[in-house]
Amino acid sequence: MTIDRFAHKAHNYEQNPDRVDNVANIARSVLEGIAFDRSMHIVDFGSGTGLLLEKIAPYVGKITAVDISRSMNLQLREKKDRLACDIDILEVDLEKTSIPLQVDGIVSSMTMHHVADVEAMFVKFYSMLKAGGFIAISDLDTEDGSFHTEDTGVFHHGFDRGAFAEAASKAGFQCAKVSSASVVHKPQGDYGVFLLTATRPAQAFIDA
Ligand SMILES: C[S@@+](CC[C@H](N)C(=O)[O-])C[C@H]1O[C@@H](n2cnc3c(N)ncnc32)[C@H](O)[C@@H]1O
Repeated sequence: MTIDRFAHKAHNYEQNPDRVDNVANIARSVLEGIAFDRSMHIVDFGSGTGLLLEKIAPYVGKITAVDISRSMNLQLREKKDRLACDIDILEVDLEKTSIPLQVDGIVSSMTMHHVADVEAMFVKFYSMLKAGGFIAISDLDTEDGSFHTEDTGVFHHGFDRGAFAEAASKAGFQCAKVSSASVVHKPQGDYGVFLLTATRPAQAFIDA
């Protein structure tokens, strides 16, 4: 049985203004960095209660929300009909499951530090994208371990931006770009948040 690590916080997840502001900043950076259009179908990996996808929804046709947590998905399900595009919710652990989708893009906020094997996840993202598709993945800069004050299944104390972009490149992504997206203010400190954008090449080049 899968443990729902967000069960105790899903119901009041959006009552933390710093969290909501952080994802709003991330969404602004994603919208600045990616040319969305209404024909697009995208995936939000680790969609949670939908803080990121609700900001992207007016600019795409469909979003498949992928999240392992039943309680977070329940919060999203309650607002799904008020959002500005079609929303599908898949309750899966994307580390253990492959989903047979070919989408135009994948967005994600504050989820990759919960993923044990980040390189393998980039390989999975690549396989889920159409040629020319994009990723826009936001997460914490390297921190001292003080960001999380409870165990929600954390595998990384943030990421070194260069190493994170390198992991995406190793999976085949091109044009990796990392920029500052937000700063999370907590009583114990301030934590930088970056956005990585990159593309699956439009055409694969095969050596003759
Ligand atoms: C910190 S929350 C971020 C939620 C949302 N993206 C936001 O920024 O508000 C991380 C989310 O990722 C989900 N998650 C973590 N690992 C996952 C996995 N392997 N597969 C699917 N979802 C996962 C958790 O259940 C949780 O909802």
